[in-house]
Amino acid sequence: MAADNVVGKLVGKHAARTQLADERVDFRFKGLPPDAEGLTVGELAAERRNLFTDGFTTPVLALSAERVEHNLALMETYSTRHGLAFAPHGKTSMAPELFARQEEHGAWGITLAVPHQVRVARAYGTRRIFLANELVDAAALRWIAAELDADPDFRFISYVDSVRGVELMDAALRAAGASRPVEVVVELGAGDAARTGVRTEAECAAIADAVAATTTLRLVGVAGYEGEVPDADPERVHAWLRRMVAIAVDFDKAGRFAGLDEIVVSAGGSAWFDAVADVFAEIPDLSAPVLKLLRSGAYVSHDDGHYKHLTPFNRVPGEGALQPAFRLWAQVVSRPNAEQAFVNAGKRDAAYDLHLPEAQVVRDAESGEVRESTGIEITGLSDQHGWVRTTPEADLEVGDWVGMGLSHPCTSFDKWQLIPLAEADGTVVDYIRTYF
Ligand SMILES: Cc1ncc(COP(=O)(O)O)c(C=O)c1O
Repeated sequence: MAADNVVGKLVGKHAARTQLADERVDFRFKGLPPDAEGLTVGELAAERRNLFTDGFTTPVLALSAERVEHNLALMETYSTRHGLAFAPHGKTSMAPELFARQEEHGAWGITLAVPHQVRVARAYGTRRIFLANELVDAAALRWIAAELDADPDFRFISYVDSVRGVELMDAALRAAGASRPVEVVVELGAGDAARTGVRTEAECAAIADAVAATTTLRLVGVAGYEGEVPDADPERVHAWLRRMVAIAVDFDKAGRFAGLDEIVVSAGGSAWFDAVADVFAEIPDLSAPVLKLLRSGAYVSHDDGHYKHLTPFNRVPGEGALQPAFRLWAQVVSRPNAEQAFVNAGKRDAAYDLHLPEAQVVRDAESGEVRESTGIEITGLSDQHGWVRTTPEADLEVGDWVGMGLSHPCTSFDKWQLIPLAEADGTVVDYIRTYF
């Protein structure tokens, strides 16, 4: 509580940096040098240690400083070029320092999914939060109401996707004595068999009516997530986005946004932001300026698997390319025969929900030289082991470090609480704290 209050007095990015730099390095954080025990994160960062030679233990996940910066800058440029406001999804990293850097790179605010994530962002001074989920938790709504009352600069927008949800929100906010209305957007589902979100236009209108009947909620727009469009292809995704925009246009014609300074239309993960840019460019003039809010999250680290294949930049290479920023380093702890090796990173360390890690390079235990990982394939993960299959070309010995690319940023960040941010030569310039 005391920490919240102190941080609350500081301005967003400074709060994040100050509080994080003061945290003590100790046994809680995997991979960090045992001889750094007791230093603050700020002190350790100032030492500019080398990831390979200055005491880090394996396995250790590193983020590339240059690549993260590249990705932050690229999506800033992309959003600006396409007239989009940006609220990157924070659930990807849950790292307040990255939230702050995203805001420094022009982000309007941060998208989040559940109340705890909102608390993390608020503790580090995030001013604008878009909750891409309906919020029907009375305790969380009570807390949000108090945050809104205490901080006139706090802007909070939440999905609504049912009349029942509106009733629960209204009841909780009235019971909490909320004085500022919570802004809401109606969530359109991405199809009949898709995830959350309203299925029909008629239901959207009924929910908007229910919102209008409250004093605790204010309808400010329409939103959805094209990443859940079933059997997504460019045609289906464009069609669904147009349907969502049409609802916003109809709501506006019906006077549902009367009196607003700004109408919110939001969509967009990291797989279809080109389609979002296309369709949002077609939004006609409405009765108030439109905040076209893109919510990509995975872009910040990008990856070597899922998003490498899905990224819209594959379709529009002229607009740039994201760079995979994670590399997981694990050490060979067993080489029982010519076909097998085992590294000391497993499911606790690597994303495995979409694909297995990909061996990329080997750092020689003796010379420190880095070579291509020819003939080396990760074929499975146990809790604490990576199963490696090798062909005769593979040059791999016990003690070598294997550098791996990962697939799926969200389930990579969540396995590490303090991630070294390393430059290409291995110099660790900072540490990224995550809160999952
Ligand atoms: C509702 C919503 N919006 C935005 C995003 C961000 O998408 P991505 O992780 O592809 O960047 C997600 C991701 O799951 C999401 O569920």
